[in-house]
Amino acid sequence: MLPQFSSKAFLAPMAGVSDPALRLQCKKFGAGLVVTEFTSIHSIIAKEEKLKENRKTIQEFIEFSENERPLSIQLFGSDLYALEKAAKIVEPFFDIIDYNMGCPAPHITQQMAGGALLQEPNLTRQIFTTLVSAVKKPVTLKIRLGVTDASKYLFRDIAQIAEDEGIEMITLHPRTVNQGYSGNADWKMIKELKEISSIPIVGNGDIATPEDAKKMFDETNCDYVMIGRGAMGNPFLFEQINDYLKTGIYNDYSFKNRLNSFFEYLHLTKAYEIKFANIKGQAMRFTKGMQDGSKLRLKITLTKNIDELEKVMKNAYNK
Ligand SMILES: Cc1cc2nc3c(=O)[nH]c(=O)nc-3n(C[C@H](O)[C@H](O)[C@H](O)COP(=O)(O)O)c2cc1C
Repeated sequence: MLPQFSSKAFLAPMAGVSDPALRLQCKKFGAGLVVTEFTSIHSIIAKEEKLKENRKTIQEFIEFSENERPLSIQLFGSDLYALEKAAKIVEPFFDIIDYNMGCPAPHITQQMAGGALLQEPNLTRQIFTTLVSAVKKPVTLKIRLGVTDASKYLFRDIAQIAEDEGIEMITLHPRTVNQGYSGNADWKMIKELKEISSIPIVGNGDIATPEDAKKMFDETNCDYVMIGRGAMGNPFLFEQINDYLKTGIYNDYSFKNRLNSFFEYLHLTKAYEIKFANIKGQAMRFTKGMQDGSKLRLKITLTKNIDELEKVMKNAYNK
């Protein structure tokens, strides 16, 4: 059974972005669910074997904290034996196991994983059966529409198979795999999925403001919304959405607030092993839309370590 969610707005899984520090911030600002970056089932198995030698657990590899709960882990990979093994390894630590069938990156689709699976209904059914019987925790799914424009209705069959096999919730990012991030997310498809489904549907794609979130609920009747790029460097969005849905108004946050929020992010990263390149990427995102932001971002690019980065950001704050 799915856990209770404190809000209808979820943070999307984003490789290199939805690290444990950003997830904690989004949670603090009211995200109902946060999801880890997608994780290879093979890397989980390989890592666990090494960690076991030193009596450590997989938590050393997939970092998180208790304050993030409910917390979902997203897996990718289609080898059924490895899938079962990896799901069992991670199950004790997470509240939901999410399965990725949307990633458009060629190095993922070429290994018959991510979005490529949308055109493989038989294998997909086996994947869902394997996962659902391997773990007692709820299994959820994240998909795109299809692979090409001509196959943009593949999601209908996949959603039906998912429901038959015991998947408990589906997130739809209504673009095709070939579309990448171009064009607009086709929210009409979320509405259609909601109409043909009897499990909760999470609408995803192109939500940047509280107004967008409300519009998606109104237009599609989805149960929850999931936000990716809109929440990058902007954890306030969850509070704004929650307030707007409840009262019709929300607080604005200044750039100073955003910079402060970056310092909080930086502080949180200290508890984890997050790559410096990723932290730098986050610094860029926290400065999006800021006056003289492009100059600041150039300075950020040139920093070589956390101390230099902090100094650049503090100078910007004190200007
Ligand atoms: C940098 C980046 C990394 C992403 N990584 C993942 C991922 O690991 N797993 C996944 O299911 N989707 C991933 N996505 C897709 C998002 O979860 C989301 O479906 C997509 O960005 C559309 O939502 P948005 O318009 O709110 O950004 C990623 C997106 C971005 C921009």
